[in-house]
Amino acid sequence: MKVLSIVGARPQFVKLAPIAKALAAAGHDHVIVHTGQHYDTKMSDVFFEDLQIPAPDVHLGVGSGSHGVQTGSMLTQLDAVLDEHDPDWVLVYGDTNSTIAGALSAVKLHYPLAHLEAGLRSFNRRMPEEHNRVLTDHAADLCLAPTDVAAEHLRAEGLGERAIVTGDVMTDVCLATAEKVRDTPPPLPEGVESGTYVLSTIHRAENTDDPQRLGAIVSGLAALPYPVVLTAHPRLVAKAKEHGIDLTQGSLNTVEPLDYPAMVAAVQHARAVVTDSGGLQKEAFLLRTPCTTVRTETEWTETVDLGWNVLALDLDQLTSLVDRPAPEPTDATPYGDGKAADATVAALAERVRPRD
Ligand code: UD1
Repeated sequence: MKVLSIVGARPQFVKLAPIAKALAAAGHDHVIVHTGQHYDTKMSDVFFEDLQIPAPDVHLGVGSGSHGVQTGSMLTQLDAVLDEHDPDWVLVYGDTNSTIAGALSAVKLHYPLAHLEAGLRSFNRRMPEEHNRVLTDHAADLCLAPTDVAAEHLRAEGLGERAIVTGDVMTDVCLATAEKVRDTPPPLPEGVESGTYVLSTIHRAENTDDPQRLGAIVSGLAALPYPVVLTAHPRLVAKAKEHGIDLTQGSLNTVEPLDYPAMVAAVQHARAVVTDSGGLQKEAFLLRTPCTTVRTETEWTETVDLGWNVLALDLDQLTSLVDRPAPEPTDATPYGDGKAADATVAALAERVRPRD
């Protein structure tokens, strides 16, 4: 079987790592296409190195741009790449512009398309990620759902026949990395002690692009009575600068994006996490660090149902949310047992279409 993976943004490299390993272990051919959506060393290269992902076979080098420009420049190049490699499966990941571009190119050229992390829904149609994931699920021949809740969404949209629950591949990586870094302290800013800080990331368009919203989030974080280690995505830095918002005020200790093992260690040693990232909400749950999510909804509802994640609907309440009593301990495994990549590869191999 020949699988062609299309990735481009930081969380997709994390998802690619266990898939690349599982495909190699099972002796399948794997072509990796990097769209270049993320290009800074700390947003891309370090993930390939730390997670031992083979170097991309093709790099489209698209860089940043508006949704249309970025997605369009991927599309103009992808047709030729798919035809050159002629894969049994095109595999797209998550919900970014690289996902929708890969899906459109594959479906138009009649290559079988599989969507990893299918069926997640925020039901917030203003999010670019929601358009990307809904459209990709409906284009896909195989929807690889990480959870039962995701599979239920697919059934509700008439996609049940194409859906299969594999577990969550980010859980595979998170659990394996946590084991490796168990005795490694995270890299912390001067004066910040392990166990005392709040780890934070903010990057989503709906939180960064409106100056008032971003200003309120940054003020809320700066007012927390604990040191806040804010690992700053380039989008946050750019937007804060544009809106004249100071990322060094109050409790804030703003640092560059962390590599994956350092991020896992930083979550493990934090007293709490405050984020708008999907992956980090889940990692906080898996590592049992209480999380507060700066959004009006989450796709990872299990983290909320189990009490390890709360939505910060009112930013004035941020301190009391971060200070809430510890959640009930749990040994629930809604995201699988760390073997989702093997299940994904098996699902693909079982469904390879005979060639004409
Ligand atoms: C994208 C995804 C989002 C995902 C996030 C993970 C879409 C629509 N959004 O958002 O779902 O959660 O990746 O990080 O695909 N930039 C750099 N260097 C880089 C990459 C980006 O400086 O390596 C800056 C540029 O100013 C760019 C901005 O960040 O314009 C936004 O980057 P972009 O890839 O458009 O979206 P993200 O916000 O990263």
